[in-house]
Amino acid sequence: MKTRMRTHTCGNLRLQNDKEKVSVCGWVQSRRDHGGIIFIDLRDRHGLTQVVFDPSNNDQAHKEAEHIGREWVLKVDGTVRPRGEGLVNPRLPTGEVEVVVDKLEVLNKSDTPPMEIDDNKVANEDFRLKYRYLDLRRPIMQKHLETRHKVAQAARSFFNEQGFLEIETPLLIRSTPEGARDYMVPSRVNPGQMYSLPQSPQLYKQILMVSGCDRYYQIARCLRDEDLRTDRQPEFTQIDVEMSFVEEEDIYEILDGMVVNVFKEAIGVNITIPIPRMTFHESMERYGCDKPDLRFGLELVDVSEIVKKGDFGVFKTVIENGGIVKCINPNKNFSRKELDEYIVLATKSGAKGMAWMKVADGKLESNIAKFFKEDLQKEIIKKTGAKDDTILFFVADRPKVCNNVLARLRNKLGEDLKLYDPSEFRFVWIVDFPLFEYDDDIEAWMPAHHMFTMPKKECLKFLDKEPGKVVAHCYDLVLNGVELGSGSIRVHRKDIQEKVMKSMGITEAEALQKFGFLLEAFRYGAPPHGGFAFGVDRLVALMCGFNDIREVMAFPKNKNAQCPMDGCPSQIDDKALKDVHLKWDIVKPEKKGNLDNRME
Ligand code: AMO
Ligand code: AMP
Repeated sequence: MKTRMRTHTCGNLRLQNDKEKVSVCGWVQSRRDHGGIIFIDLRDRHGLTQVVFDPSNNDQAHKEAEHIGREWVLKVDGTVRPRGEGLVNPRLPTGEVEVVVDKLEVLNKSDTPPMEIDDNKVANEDFRLKYRYLDLRRPIMQKHLETRHKVAQAARSFFNEQGFLEIETPLLIRSTPEGARDYMVPSRVNPGQMYSLPQSPQLYKQILMVSGCDRYYQIARCLRDEDLRTDRQPEFTQIDVEMSFVEEEDIYEILDGMVVNVFKEAIGVNITIPIPRMTFHESMERYGCDKPDLRFGLELVDVSEIVKKGDFGVFKTVIENGGIVKCINPNKNFSRKELDEYIVLATKSGAKGMAWMKVADGKLESNIAKFFKEDLQKEIIKKTGAKDDTILFFVADRPKVCNNVLARLRNKLGEDLKLYDPSEFRFVWIVDFPLFEYDDDIEAWMPAHHMFTMPKKECLKFLDKEPGKVVAHCYDLVLNGVELGSGSIRVHRKDIQEKVMKSMGITEAEALQKFGFLLEAFRYGAPPHGGFAFGVDRLVALMCGFNDIREVMAFPKNKNAQCPMDGCPSQIDDKALKDVHLKWDIVKPEKKGNLDNRME
């Protein structure tokens, strides 16, 4: 990294450079005045180097150094020497040496920075985002950006070797059906019309398959106007992939290979393949969700068959109405306060309540234990494998709610009880997703992934009358309880596509209006094809040991989808609006969106 200004970076110098004349440039991390001798830690992306201003060596440079402040930008010319006896810093790679300054050049001064550049003193979120350029100077943030870069490079080199073409798709497009809202851009040249920003390159990559491109990838920016969470940003990045003439197995093979390559290259971790698979159904039964964290057990146990024989009205009514009762066995006793906290978590997650029973002398105790005769209590204990002096939690509800609540509780218990090694990477493919899920709000079947997903052949017969039974060629890659990516084999035949749309209540006219261009392209020999998209931000965050993807994005938005640094979104002036043929008539929102901070 030698340039005309420097011979070494601030991370390069070692004992073997002893007595060399060097030039280094960087920012002032700290300045210490030790009775006439001034020490400065100079920082750049590569590390810290101690530089020493000794008046007996160069009086002029020493005098100048007296006035230097934090984050000034310096160039120093000097001579490398070993640090004195007892002054070696074993925590720094450059800690055995220092540079005695012959010449100082102040390249730039700095105002007193509003935050410290220190990994141990992290400012609050909005402050970090406002002064993101300072926040990014912290070594850990530089490391995250580097890991992200390595992920992109490793993915590129892997796909290049496998014969994929990197192809860019447009940002100004017609709407993509990924299920969130589109960001929209008014057209100046076409008054009253809007472009959408892509929620993903989905339709374009499928059209590229029709074009015969065979194997496509792209590191693609995606934009979705949705409520934000720690693992969701309005702008994010996908490693987007599509392949022709493939079956599901081909896709797993390629993507398993990519995962191995990326983990090895970016963080030196070996991932064992094939990545195990679990059906959606099994995942829901055992873990209550389609993104199970498999670093720990704590499986859910369905006790409906047992408790329906008891006398507890709440459970009985739920089961009679098609609901279920599931139990979780944390294998531990809890204080009343802890119990109450878990009950609050359950109700906040949508449960109407959460019951508990304690195992004591092979029997159950709690305010509801009396509703279960001794033989039923024994059955519950047997089925859950519960030991004496531990507490069982029970939730009764519709399967969707019961599973969702217990899945959240399971994750919280896993975290609280430290049931996993945070440095472990446990992947799983969740396969055989249903094609549709029922949307209670709009009372209609909606695609679980998107409407271009191919139903399994043996399920085509259910498309018309029992859409809930259709299993799809659809798969998610899950890592440590986070959905890293999704994909599917696509519908390439017009007749099946029409049936799928019909099941969703989309008329032909609507379909033509929304995706006419795709359906038209499909008339001219669409090959069988399928693909996948990884969420790069989530992938890199997990690699770096974070759940919050903002830690690995250079310029993320805050919880309200704003950027405190540049102040966007902002008002635009009337002239600019007029140019795009619009004028303000702002309708007040009825209620503020749910901009919460939970992991899903
Ligand atoms: P999907 O919508 O599941 O599939 O997105 C794929 C992956 O992208 C990541 N992701 C996000 N990351 C950060 N912020 C967001 N708002 C966000 N939304 C999604 C997730 C997710 O698993 N076109 C299809 C893929 C395909 O079928 O090939 C798609 O976009 O990690
Ligand atoms: P209640 O009849 O509302 O006093 O509830 C009695 C017990 O049943 C309390 O411990 C509640 O938390 C629990 N409970 C109520 N509804 C449910 C439910 N849907 N699932 C599990 N436990 C419940």
